Amino acid sequence: MSDILVVAIDGPAGAGKSTVGRAVAARLDLEYLDTGAMYRGVTFGVLRRGLDPSDVTSVARVAAAIDIRLDGERLTVDGVDATIEIRGREVTSAVSAVAANSSVRTELVRRQREWVAARGGAVVEGRDIGSVVFPDASLKLYVTASPRVRAERRVADIGGDVKEVEASIIERDRKDSTRDDSPLTEASGSIVVDTSGFSINEVVEHILGMLPHDQG
Ligand code: DC
Repeated sequence: MSDILVVAIDGPAGAGKSTVGRAVAARLDLEYLDTGAMYRGVTFGVLRRGLDPSDVTSVARVAAAIDIRLDGERLTVDGVDATIEIRGREVTSAVSAVAANSSVRTELVRRQREWVAARGGAVVEGRDIGSVVFPDASLKLYVTASPRVRAERRVADIGGDVKEVEASIIERDRKDSTRDDSPLTEASGSIVVDTSGFSINEVVEHILGMLPHDQG
């Protein structure tokens, strides 16, 4: 893995990972992989089949067989365009249970490594990228922001009540960081980037400046 350029971006929901990650990928002319979208894709498939997201055995079976394709921001699940639905309330509230399933994680980690190898490198975003998926990544970042800032950004984007959104963000962080398998954590060797109070451009420039031999 060390001969290809992999930028690993981990961190909690709503910290700006996607926006920053996509901008960094564009500047480096690299592909961008949103691994959260893959967990959401499996969740979409589980709900479509009428299964219970916490039914470990059935969900593992779905993950092993499901066809998930990522093309830019478009995500197709078994040939059905799920781009919009994977961001909806139903999938969002069920995805933590699916992401806590170890068989699902093993399968998706395998697919993520394959995806990146086939493209000769990428900027990869998730929760366990620097710790599990690509521990030897060229650059490992832990992108974060305060829960209040994250809630304010989300409300500016899609509306809602800041306090309520903040509470749901804190709850999702708690679930993601206390699960047994691959909890959200700062990987060893990762650099913490707190985006609170910085513009996207400032954060992107800061990250590009950290690359080995300044590849930005
Ligand atoms: O980044 P996101 O909100 O789209 O992620 C959706 C869910 O999947 C969230 O509960 C965290 C989980 N996830 C994960 O466990 N591991 C990853 N590599 C990416 C996301």
